[in-house]
Amino acid sequence: MTPVAPGSVIGILGGGQLGRMLANAAQRLGFDVDIYCPEDNPPAARVAHHHWKGAYDNKALLGEFAKACAVITLEFENIPVAAAEAIEAAGTHLHPGAKSLAVSQDRAEEKAFLNGIGIATADYRVINSDHDIAKALPELGGTGLLKTRRDGYDGKGQAWIRSPDDIAAAWADVGAAPCVLEAPVPFEREISVIVARSSQGETATWAPPQNVHRDGILATSTVPSGLPLDVEQAAREKAIALVDALGHVGVLALELFVLPDGGLLANEFAPRVHNSGHWTPEACQTGQFEQHIRAICGWPLGDTRRLFDAEMENLIGEAGNVDPTTLAPGDVLTLYGKHEARPGRKMGHITRRLAPRKA
Ligand SMILES: Nc1ncnc2c1ncn2[C@@H]1O[C@H](COP(=O)(O)OP(=O)(O)O)[C@@H](O)[C@H]1O
Ligand SMILES: [Mg+2]
Repeated sequence: MTPVAPGSVIGILGGGQLGRMLANAAQRLGFDVDIYCPEDNPPAARVAHHHWKGAYDNKALLGEFAKACAVITLEFENIPVAAAEAIEAAGTHLHPGAKSLAVSQDRAEEKAFLNGIGIATADYRVINSDHDIAKALPELGGTGLLKTRRDGYDGKGQAWIRSPDDIAAAWADVGAAPCVLEAPVPFEREISVIVARSSQGETATWAPPQNVHRDGILATSTVPSGLPLDVEQAAREKAIALVDALGHVGVLALELFVLPDGGLLANEFAPRVHNSGHWTPEACQTGQFEQHIRAICGWPLGDTRRLFDAEMENLIGEAGNVDPTTLAPGDVLTLYGKHEARPGRKMGHITRRLAPRKA
């Protein structure tokens, strides 16, 4: 692919904070950015050159958007695969492509794909009815986490089942939608690998952060993770194997459980920049947002070397109403420009550089 020249227009599907931070990074490299999403006045559109307000199934408008852009990417993976096809039909590349989207949109496909390339996950069963749950529960040891195959995020669309008595309520909770039932993983900690793959097939990973979730939502990401380097290396290799197998172009985040013996089970992946990589711009030579833009534009990847120990703290709900007078001098604050702090809503994050990285 001929490198996309600075001054070109980069299109982004999705208008949230990830799109906003991608737009900021793209603009610093000299690009203009157009946002496509159905919402009014979303965080990303407010920093963009142009907002195409349209539904993800409006093929005609997607086609026009595609013609206006040199390359298109996304910050939101749950767009219909037909939208990806409409963009490609207009002759503009969408990175990442339909394969990364189709696999990551469906937890059953995702697990089957990971297992198929030799990346272990929790034991699971595909669920289409409450009868399927009753059959699968004893096979998984009597406890399971029911997750909708599609559209789950931040712990939404999930219900624990600890005995057959819980089945009816859990099935109702998830809206009787197609699901997977997962065996509980007795993890020692959670980490993620942020990985980038360029359109030339070059790959790079960042140091895997340790991630702590509260109420199903990421609370903090910390580097170093505290894990032995060989465990981190094994995690990085899995993420590289995944992006190679998908032919993925751009950044991708692979969430992993670390078992007490140092073994790794993949949980899920997102085919985009990720909340657990928000510390990378402050703590590394190249951050995830710039790297994603480089990757989709056919530029050489930047150096992912970590320069600082760091902690990223999410500002969720009320915590997003930051009183600037309470900030410590070293707090690097990013706010997403959302006007209303609703419970569970990601409003911003603070990154703290804790110390220069030891050799
Ligand atoms: N099989 C499991 N066993 C134990 N904890 C789990 C399991 N699956 C998910 N979790 C916990 O729930 C969190 C959210 O689940 P995840 O599948 O990542 O959904 P989401 O798409 O909402 O991020 C995980 O980060 C982990 O803390
Ligand atoms: Mg997750």
